[in-house]
Amino acid sequence: MTIVSAKEMLVKASQEKYAVGAFNITSVVQMVAVIEAAAERNAPVIVQTSVTPAKFLKPEVVVAVFRALAESVSIPVCLHLDHCTDVDFCKKCADLGYTNIMFDGSHLDFEENIKQTREVSDYCHAIGGITVEGELGTVSGVEDQIKVAADDAQLCDPEKSLEFMERSGIDLFGPAIGTAHGIYQTENPVIDFVRLGEIYQKLNTPEVRTPLVIHGGTGLSENTVKSLIENGGSKYNVSTNLKYILMDSTFDYMSGHLKEYDPGKLDKHVKMATKERIEYWIDLLGSAGKVI
Ligand code: 13P
Repeated sequence: MTIVSAKEMLVKASQEKYAVGAFNITSVVQMVAVIEAAAERNAPVIVQTSVTPAKFLKPEVVVAVFRALAESVSIPVCLHLDHCTDVDFCKKCADLGYTNIMFDGSHLDFEENIKQTREVSDYCHAIGGITVEGELGTVSGVEDQIKVAADDAQLCDPEKSLEFMERSGIDLFGPAIGTAHGIYQTENPVIDFVRLGEIYQKLNTPEVRTPLVIHGGTGLSENTVKSLIENGGSKYNVSTNLKYILMDSTFDYMSGHLKEYDPGKLDKHVKMATKERIEYWIDLLGSAGKVI
């Protein structure tokens, strides 16, 4: 069993210029698929839950299932709580065994974002083995309870990012650079690669201190994904794509097997469809074969 914090896997990814896939799941079948696919590709992987599925499944259950699955593979795996705006729920998930916590204070003013993120960082670091992700600027679109209109989305100020990192105590940083949660409204979204590269330089030279996270991973072209990695992204979040795979593969199977009533076969079909997609992402992100 190799359960690690996100930072532990991402420093190597940053140095070697690949990204680790961070996949949002809402069901046990999806969690099984993510871990099996990563093990088959010999890739480090991050399983993430947003707050609503974490509460629905219960964080205790998520952690127990995650640990049992982690025991069956020898790749490094991390369990991440995504976009949590509630300091107490962050602490609860850290106590229960999540190994990376994202406190999302992007809706707060700069000082309040630092203050609340610092509280989460100090708490997680005192437990040990848990790292913390913070966000500055706002990522537009919808991810669970976080809804940001494109007009309100503000890109991250590189000057402020170093101060934010140092004062909030974070280990990973999710800067808003023009990517969006959900389905992109335009075919060619404007992504600020220069800003991303500038933030990377400020935080991670001469050595990698705070790996960078790319939010809004669904729907970007393969060239865009590669440029995001070249410019410093090393944790790549995918959520919407897996929701579509889950719903579409369920619908396809049900449509062809209306009278079957065998949920095990449906689960298997959804698992295979999900695994295939996870393998696609792992190959694109360059993390296949990175476990030595
Ligand atoms: P997508 O829903 O666009 O894949 O974004 C995922 C994400 O950034 C989760 O934090």
